[in-house]
Amino acid sequence: MNVRRTRLVSGLILLTYLATHLLNHGLGLISLDAMEWGRQWFLLLWRNPLGTAVLYGALLTHLCLAIWALYQRRHWRMPVTEMLQLTFGLTIPLLLTVHIVGTRLTHEYFAVDDSYTLMVLTLWHASPMDGLRQAILIIIAWTHGCIGCHYWLRLKKWYPRAAPYFLTLALLIPVCGLLGFVDAGREVSNLIARQPDWLERFLIAAKIPPRSQRAILTQIYDGVLITFGAAIALALLARVVRSLVERRSRIRISYPNGLLVQAPRNFSVLEASRLANIPHASVCGGRGRCSTCRVRVSHGLASLPPPSAGELKVLQRVGAAPDVRLACQLRPSHNLTVAPLLPANAQASDGYGQPAYLTGQERQIAVMFADIRSFTAIAETKLPYDLVFFLNSYFAAVGEAIVANGGIIDKFVGDGVMALFGVESGPEEGCRQALAAAQAMIAHVDGLSRALSEELSAPLRIGIGVHCGPAVVGRMGYGETIHVTAIGDTVNVASRLQDATKEFHCQLVFSDEVAMQSGQPIAGLPRHELTVRNRREALAVFAVEDLGVLART
Ligand code: FES
Repeated sequence: MNVRRTRLVSGLILLTYLATHLLNHGLGLISLDAMEWGRQWFLLLWRNPLGTAVLYGALLTHLCLAIWALYQRRHWRMPVTEMLQLTFGLTIPLLLTVHIVGTRLTHEYFAVDDSYTLMVLTLWHASPMDGLRQAILIIIAWTHGCIGCHYWLRLKKWYPRAAPYFLTLALLIPVCGLLGFVDAGREVSNLIARQPDWLERFLIAAKIPPRSQRAILTQIYDGVLITFGAAIALALLARVVRSLVERRSRIRISYPNGLLVQAPRNFSVLEASRLANIPHASVCGGRGRCSTCRVRVSHGLASLPPPSAGELKVLQRVGAAPDVRLACQLRPSHNLTVAPLLPANAQASDGYGQPAYLTGQERQIAVMFADIRSFTAIAETKLPYDLVFFLNSYFAAVGEAIVANGGIIDKFVGDGVMALFGVESGPEEGCRQALAAAQAMIAHVDGLSRALSEELSAPLRIGIGVHCGPAVVGRMGYGETIHVTAIGDTVNVASRLQDATKEFHCQLVFSDEVAMQSGQPIAGLPRHELTVRNRREALAVFAVEDLGVLART
């Protein structure tokens, strides 16, 4: 089990413990007796030998990993949530030790029943400041756990839908717990007020040892804090020593636009970016989980150690090319040239498993172009508002037909549309889908034409061109406009076939290749030889006016 997974599992155990503890507190909203009843189940779960080993093992492991993470961190530039997470994590032991000593250790050493009544009496009635400190501990520990869970879960595809429910629970559980404790505090105060001898009787029954006998607990408390402080001091000292050693040998990491970072050898590329204030996506905070920090290494790849099993798994998940690495895991010892592949504001969804073609692949696909005949004449007669309404109605009509038949809408330009078919399913299925989509588009546009007949001087007609062949497919664009598109000769030819619908006075022109891939019977269809720019030989195409003659293949 690697460090990342160990941290996650130990953190989840601790969060589960805290959740059950808070739910137990929440029973105070019913009564003190209900709290005590819930505590029996709580103890059954966590105070048996196995529960104790799991709980304290997780606590110790999580603590050691926190100190290790402190050592591992190369500098303090980090997003606010990461800083919060780190600060909260290191604060918890300071507040938690006194609670463990006052409850579990007091019970183990002196057989004191650390009941809710005793705890409420101590923290609410006798020492409210300690109570306040415990409330702060609960809030800090719960927030720390929730942030950790959020970092982990937000890489899951289902998380955005479930997040509101998690947030509700994240707020409800501590609020109920704290209110339950307050209610129990009031109940104890009422008992003391109504029964003057109740407090004395309770303390005698509780058999709390005098302060002098409890010196051992004070020593344990001091010992834990000193050990924790010494461990942190050692980690920080080791960082300083390492930093002095590493700074003696630096490497150069080149970024796009001529940016150059001189970073100590073995800094991760993400740390180098942060050191130089270069915006760099890192949704998981450098834990090697999200893949959003991935970079393409254009120089120095051969000198890099191969990716670890964990890094490789994440890279495979997103279908990364062999020259792509995770910036947070990559610690170069030689000069390197890298280019971040995602914008700095990348989202968790950018790290979901993606088809390999999204990063750029040559594929055999069917490409379709379509536009409205005589659109200029139509546009001239319409007011801007009417024109926008008309075009949106038309885009909806053809867009639905394309998507319903498995196509990907590449773009709408003016009155034209470009669509891709068979990107995942291959050219045969793609060509069949494209011809079926063409039939559906004609039918939808006829329907739109009838619906708008009073506003149109003539029925709407469109021209569609479909060609099949190799094209480079990938996500391209900038910022909000990044989308799946294709480039190459096949795209140019498909566009040319759409133009040819005007020459042949028909609604659809598709190439010989499309007919062959789709298995479309061509007997009886008008065949033409079409010259296409940059092609030595003429292209055999079929011109179809009535798409009803096409067979469903
Ligand atoms: S920052 Fe998430 S994998 Fe690198």
